[in-house]
Amino acid sequence: MKVEFVNFDIKGDNRGNLIAIEQLKNIPFEIQRVYYIFNTKEGVRRGFHAHKNLKQMAVCLSGSCKFLLDDGKEKIDEVVLDSSQKGLLIENMVWHEMYDFSVDCILLVLASEYYNENDYIRDYNEFLKECKNDR
Ligand code: TYD
Repeated sequence: MKVEFVNFDIKGDNRGNLIAIEQLKNIPFEIQRVYYIFNTKEGVRRGFHAHKNLKQMAVCLSGSCKFLLDDGKEKIDEVVLDSSQKGLLIENMVWHEMYDFSVDCILLVLASEYYNENDYIRDYNEFLKECKNDR
């Protein structure tokens, strides 16, 4: 599995930095939803699901956190997100978990669909079964 990052261009000048995010330009899908995770308590691990159709781009605006990504064939642990300049693409049918949130972590997520609980696979064995069916 390839871990796909997008590097955002910084429009920087002597006042500081600015990054612009535009659907279908530096984000490879139409953005229907934006959410952010912050004030995460110490030791918390969250996610533990895959999506049937949803694609997401995660950007750590402040602080840092780590991702585990698993496409049913390969598991990649310790993908570090610690830069507001970098987006991590989370494709559909990728099991993901987030952990090691710093106290100042603000994790912004851009999503290709509205929130839909029916799009979630929250059972790991069911996820593996679906992966096999897809092949
Ligand atoms: P949850 O799916 O548990 O977060 P994660 O899997 O990333 O750890 O989401 C927490 C709660 O927020 C849950 O009640 C569903 C709700 N929620 C929404 O209402 N809209 C959203 O876009 C998201 C991501 C979650």
